[in-house]
Order: sequence, then C-alpha cells, then structure tokens
Amino acid sequence: MKNKRVGVLMGGLSAERDVSMKTGAGVASALEARGYDVERIVFGPNAPLDVALRKSRIDVAFVALHGRGGEDGCVQGLLELMGIPYTGSSVLASALAMDKLKAKELFRLHNVQTPPYYAVTANDLHDLTDLHGSFGFPAIVKPRSEGSSVGLAKVTNEAELRAAVEVALSLDSCAIVERFINGTEIHVGILDGRVLGAIEVAPKSGLYDYAAKYTAGATDYILPPRIAATRVRGVLNLAERAARALGCHGACRVDLLVTEGQNEYVLEVNTLPGMTPTSLLPKIADAAGIDYGNLCEMILSSATLHAGLHRSAEVRTAVAAPTSEVVRTTATTLRVVNG
Ligand SMILES: Nc1ncnc2c1ncn2[C@@H]1O[C@H](COP(=O)(O)OP(=O)(O)O)[C@@H](O)[C@H]1O
Ligand SMILES: [Mg+2]
Repeated sequence: MKNKRVGVLMGGLSAERDVSMKTGAGVASALEARGYDVERIVFGPNAPLDVALRKSRIDVAFVALHGRGGEDGCVQGLLELMGIPYTGSSVLASALAMDKLKAKELFRLHNVQTPPYYAVTANDLHDLTDLHGSFGFPAIVKPRSEGSSVGLAKVTNEAELRAAVEVALSLDSCAIVERFINGTEIHVGILDGRVLGAIEVAPKSGLYDYAAKYTAGATDYILPPRIAATRVRGVLNLAERAARALGCHGACRVDLLVTEGQNEYVLEVNTLPGMTPTSLLPKIADAAGIDYGNLCEMILSSATLHAGLHRSAEVRTAVAAPTSEVVRTTATTLRVVNG
C-alpha cells in the first residue's frame, strides 16, 4: 500500500458533513505520519466528487464520509465504476445499513433482535392515530435514512408523536416509529468480521441525540461497559451477527441497547463509523491494543472492489471477441485466466 496514492474522501452532501471533515482530517494525518502518499479529496454541493476523482489519479480510496451520499452506496458505486478500491462495505451492504427499515427487515430475517417498529410516510399522516394503535409510549421517532441522531426524538404522547413524525418526514420520505427501549447503550467495534470490543455510551440527558453526540462532556463513555461479564459475550455475538446479516466489510460499529430484563436489541450498523482520533471505534480499538494510526492502516489494507465489474468486463470482452487462445478455454478457465 505504501507505494500507492491514497485518496481520503471527506465532506460530502449530508447533514454529517462536519463530522466527515474531522474524520477525514484525522485519517489523512495519521496515514501521512505512517509514510503514505495521501491526497485529501473534499467534495460537496459545488465540488463534484467524480471530477475530483478523475483529476486525482489515486490508486485507493479511504472513505471518510458519513451519512447519505457517502455511507449509503452512492459513492461506493462511483468507485466501483471507476475501478478504485475503497475502504468499508460494498454498494449493497452500505445501502442496506443506511436504510434503517431494510436493515431491520434483514435483522428480523436473521433472528437479530431489533426494537419493534412501524414505518410512516406522508400518506399515513391522516390516520397516524390508527396506525399507532396500541403501540404505546414512550416511542422513538427517526428518519429512515439519517445518522448522528438528526431528526430523532423521544415522544410520550400523540401530539409529540405527530410533531416528531412531521420533522422526520421533512428530512426523509419515510419515518420509523420504534418502541423506546430503556437500557444500557453499548456500541461494538468490528474489523474485518472480528469483534474488537465494546464501549458503553451514557448520555447525561438520557438521550443520545445530536447534542449529546457532539457537545464536549455531554456523554460519558465507559470502557469496558458496565454490564455483567456473562452478558458481554452475547452482546458481542449479536453485534457480529447484525454486521454479517447486512454483509458488512472492513470496519463498522454496531449500536445496541441492553435491558436489565436480559434483552438485547440492535439499533443499527454504521458502515463508516466516526474516525476522529477521539471517536468511539478508535477508543474501542485502542483498548484492544490497536492505536489510531494502526487502525487507519488496518482499515486501508482492507480496501477492495466488490462488484467485480472490471474483471467481468475483461471476461465479457474475451467472450464477445474470442482470440484463438480464449476460444479453446472453458468458462472455468476464463475465470482463472482473468481472476
Ligand atoms: N428504540 C430506541 N429506544 C431507545 N433509544 C433509542 C432507540 N432508537 C434510538 N435511540 C437512541 O438514539 C440514538 C440514535 O439512534 P440510531 O438508531 O442509532 O440512529 P443514528 O443513525 O442517528 O445514530 C441511539 O444511539 C440511542 O441512544
Ligand atoms: Mg447510531
């Protein structure tokens, strides 16, 4: 990797642009300090990513983006088409993880416990009361595809429910209403399918909203988490199964809630978790003996292309215009020749 030019992709179009800039700055400095040839690629509404990538001539991309347009498969698709290996999950896994509704459907299929929920669109607003039915309060309302707790609210009655759903629907075409789970919040770090460890997240306000995430001192982070050692294994296992259910690759962070009543629920999988030097994944990794620079390097080394577009294009070309060499080969040998 050290002889390759690494593009650190940051900024983006989402509500999490500022966090991405911090992640990108941290990763770029750490990789430079380790001797990598790094180019910072900042994109946004007035600086298209495809143009920047074409100018850059990078060999590999470290994706330091968060949220829509960065973490949801769009950028991953561009990189696949351009043949630039990238860190993090594939187009499909990125899209599934970003879409909380689809992710929850898959969790249920894979027997990964997730809080009970229902989805609301603008068409449902007139009979929200019926839709909510006996679901009960308190409940959590969140947009289907946001991050950083943007548009998320805890509601305790019907008026609050309606107001929160309207806010969520102003950010997204679909909102999710979820059963409020009263429990300890645990985030689990995973690298290349292997659990790195877990951290407890204890917001002083009681809700891990945008302010609790990004205001200094608003949340306590406790490592190792204050849950019985006998439960830790189950929590780590559940997190690993959640990441596997979505087909995640490289580094990811799974957010869970653990109740006193022995239930564990997966909230979501973050396929591009915060990577500032003080973010949760680096904290978890540090406790596992992997320092920040080392973690960045390990993530970089997992960069790959997933879709096989360029390989199968070679095969297609060979099949469409067979040379005497190719004409004699079978499909199996073709894979070997081009693989
Ligand atoms: N069903 C729930 N019950 C209790 N708290 C929740 C629930 N869903 C979300 N939260 C709180 O809101 C935070 C953000 O929710 P999450 O689903 O992880 O979305 P985001 O992508 O915004 O991080 C969680 O870390 C948790 O503190
Ligand atoms: Mg979260």
